[in-house]
Amino acid sequence: MPCELHDEAWLALLAAGRLLADGPRDLAFCERDGEWHCEPVRADRTAVAAEQVLFVAADTGTDEESTFDAGAATRVTVYRPRERVPELTDLTTAGVDARMQSFARVYLPIVHGAARARTTDRVFVAAHVTQTLDGRIACTNGQSQWIGNEADLQHAHRMRALLDGVAVGANTVLQDDPKLTVRHVEGPDPKRLVISGTGRALAGEEHRQVFDAPGSIVLVRDDVTATAPTSHVELVPVERNCRDDLSPAAILAAIKAQGVHSIYLEGGARTVSSFLATGAIDLLQVHVASMVLGSGLSSFELPTVEHVRDGRPFVMDHASLQGHLLLTCWPQPRD
Ligand SMILES: NC(=O)c1ccc[n+]([C@@H]2O[C@H](COP(=O)([O-])OP(=O)(O)OC[C@H]3O[C@@H](n4cnc5c(N)ncnc54)[C@H](OP(=O)(O)O)[C@@H]3O)[C@@H](O)[C@H]2O)c1
Repeated sequence: MPCELHDEAWLALLAAGRLLADGPRDLAFCERDGEWHCEPVRADRTAVAAEQVLFVAADTGTDEESTFDAGAATRVTVYRPRERVPELTDLTTAGVDARMQSFARVYLPIVHGAARARTTDRVFVAAHVTQTLDGRIACTNGQSQWIGNEADLQHAHRMRALLDGVAVGANTVLQDDPKLTVRHVEGPDPKRLVISGTGRALAGEEHRQVFDAPGSIVLVRDDVTATAPTSHVELVPVERNCRDDLSPAAILAAIKAQGVHSIYLEGGARTVSSFLATGAIDLLQVHVASMVLGSGLSSFELPTVEHVRDGRPFVMDHASLQGHLLLTCWPQPRD
């Protein structure tokens, strides 16, 4: 059974994101007195005195492999980013504990993806769905709070804190009225991005919590005339395509122009599916809750396929969230 994630390493992970702001480098996560810290690797590449050490090799995208030395430390593991599932190798008889290994496998691909996007001037997209065992993200009437559990909520807030922006579709704003801020963990708030081609998310008199604080952006079609509900909200026009829709590529270009190089795409189904259909997702997280609804909204809305070979392939990794499952899925090209 996979392990629960490691709360004690959260602040060290935030520090890792900051250390990678100027480009790829090797890092060391060290546990002292039960707390994890993140620091650059020493010049002699040897583990420091600590209860456990996780070396994290730089994400350079080349075949060149950094080397690390366990020195006198007793529990040392090396994490190497790979194009898909990362690789962890113990340098000592027992490596770092299983919770830290799970934590690294879930969050270091996010930290590296966000850092790489900044240096290559693109937008890293991590999408997320919380679904039942039968693949539903909401009841037929749209009610979805909460299919996930406490650990999923904390996970979502970690993801928001690690990435520049969090994005949702108009229906999610109208149905769920999310705040999209970081409250369940320590960390910075992301820019809050609402995708609403028609501007529907701005219509009506109803108060929407997503527009409460500075840092909200609504992406609308460039032919739509809408008014921002408060001075906190910026309307960003996005060039529409021939179907009068917004292509994810155009949405990402508009987001990048706002200085956002990584987003957490939190739903709903139509939004995540439009990105998935055009290959605009780098990594998809699927939280599988221990529940069956038997009816309701499907996790994805994609064109009909006639044969299973036309399905979309992924490479997957998994972790446990308080008895639920968190899948990290990397989209693969079809053969
Ligand atoms: N379990 C979960 O993980 C989870 C997460 C989030 C939401 N939900 C649930 O999911 C439901 C909402 O999902 P949904 O699929 O109905 O809607 P949605 O994805 O939240 O919103 C769809 C709307 O977003 C805009 N949009 C998204 N992508 C677009 C694109 N490429 N081009 C143009 N506009 C785009 C459009 O707004 P316009 O119509 O204004 O053009 C579209 O109608 C709710 O019931 C919510 O509770 C569940």
